[in-house]
Amino acid sequence: MITQVLVLNGPNLGRLGIREPEVYGDASFDDLAELCRSTGRKLGLYVDVRQTDDEREMIGWVHEAADARMPVVINPAAFTHYSYALRDALAMRTAPLVEVHISNPAARESFRHTSVVAAVADGTVAGFGLVSYQLALQAIAELIAGQAKGPKRDDP
Ligand code: DQA
Repeated sequence: MITQVLVLNGPNLGRLGIREPEVYGDASFDDLAELCRSTGRKLGLYVDVRQTDDEREMIGWVHEAADARMPVVINPAAFTHYSYALRDALAMRTAPLVEVHISNPAARESFRHTSVVAAVADGTVAGFGLVSYQLALQAIAELIAGQAKGPKRDDP
């Protein structure tokens, strides 16, 4: 069975390639979407890539994923640093969740050092450019495989 994964991207990520290329690189959002889909195919995942500049729309997608038990890779972009509403939505997740960043926020301005969503994710991948998304999808595949095996038993 193919698992569907949502790859959600927040504000200004639709401008990849034009936006501060010295920070985010030359690849466009379409390049990113294709990379995610092809990485997903290799991992046996069907990847649906979306982007919005709107917090309400993003939260709607997170609710949709929770209702459908769909794993999520999310680059919340600037929402990362202040959106308690997005964090609360992500806290309702019902499947694996990986936070992803193209740049390394810890090595940038101090307002980027806080992620209000990190604590509700399984983990965070940051600082590897578009490769961050490939690593995040790989982590999702591992988490799904682990869930399929069921909980570990200690007793013989
Ligand atoms: C980002 C880092 C955020 O601090 C920033 O607001 C973004 C992109 C990244 O992918 O590196 O929009 O999430």
